[in-house]
Amino acid sequence: MRKSTSRIVGILAVGSFVVATPSTAQREYVSPETMTAEALYGLSCAACHGADGSGLHPDNPLYTSFDSPPADLSDPLFNSREPAADWAIVIKYGGAKIGLSSQMPAFGEAMTDPQIDELVTYIKSLADTERFPPGDLNFVRAVDTIKAFPEDEALIINRYVDSDEGSDSFRSTLYYGRRFGARHQGEVKLAHINRDGVSELDEAEIGWKWAIRHDLAARSLFSLGLEAAFPIADDDASEEIIPYFSFAKGLSDDFTLQTSVKALLPVDHFDDGEAKVSAILHWMRSPWPRSMTPALEATISAPWSDADIDATLIPQLYFGLSKLGHVALALGIEIPLTDLDYDYRIHSFLLWDVADGMFWDGW
Ligand code: HEC
Repeated sequence: MRKSTSRIVGILAVGSFVVATPSTAQREYVSPETMTAEALYGLSCAACHGADGSGLHPDNPLYTSFDSPPADLSDPLFNSREPAADWAIVIKYGGAKIGLSSQMPAFGEAMTDPQIDELVTYIKSLADTERFPPGDLNFVRAVDTIKAFPEDEALIINRYVDSDEGSDSFRSTLYYGRRFGARHQGEVKLAHINRDGVSELDEAEIGWKWAIRHDLAARSLFSLGLEAAFPIADDDASEEIIPYFSFAKGLSDDFTLQTSVKALLPVDHFDDGEAKVSAILHWMRSPWPRSMTPALEATISAPWSDADIDATLIPQLYFGLSKLGHVALALGIEIPLTDLDYDYRIHSFLLWDVADGMFWDGW
């Protein structure tokens, strides 16, 4: 049913393009193989996406025939946020394959892969995105390493601790991050803990992140951030200030590296603070958002007050659950490599990329 509607819309769209462009008839015939990306866009895409990529005006008679109108490709935030590889998939296989509207047709039969790549480069040029970190540098979220990319995301983060002394605990954190402008992100966290049969709010946190430098050719992104943590459950615990930097680097098509360095600075007992370095290597097995991504993460903490260094390893798996990849689940186990007060910790998070659509869209 949906497929046939999309065909009709496609024919209508191409029809309206021909009618709306009187010069078409006078143009010389150019074979699609030799067309520039711009010409190809004008012929195959502009009818639905608008000549400048800004989509269709609501007054356009075609507008109401879309169940999800074409997005504004000329909006720099939207244009920069989506990785080029995802757009190549949408164009080649059509919207439905990636959880978008089936009214976005598949062009894999009509165009070659290099043509599709050129088209993606062309539509990426329809917005002035210079100041916006590109979505190609938005790598997979880690359990511990702080992400460099500024996001619109909601998460439920869980941690189960199997403690040596028998007081195991389960901690759940609600996280919400919101993007501001080209390079900034604000975030709030609220943690709840269940320990020794006592269930209470544990901690509130606010934070700010600033993506200060990106380089798409080098596939690197560098951000600075500051968090402030306010203990709720433990009266003796101190507020903490946590400055950090985080760095993301694409090593190849198959591997990404992310690392963050943070300082935990307790306001009241500064000596209890520490520096922490975390790093994670993701193996990007598949270009499809609905897939499983394995990763190995390592952390090293160095307390200010003594010469000890603590280290852990966190092997983990990240599952893109929706076709769109905007809902994902990660699972990991943290194994101490040095003498720590727990045997192991189990981590998980459920993530919803709010900017990509509602939780229930795109499955
Ligand atoms: C028949 C109308 C139609 C034509 C023709 C069409 N598109 Fe689309 N396209 C859509 C619709 C509708 C969506 C929105 C899907 C959604 O949001 O669910 C879309 C979505 C997209 C997206 C994904 C944007 C996102 O949400 O991430 C890209 C990229 C895109 N189109 C590129 C193209 C290109 C390039 C062409 C030409 C080769 C093209 N489209 C031709 C209707 C069309």
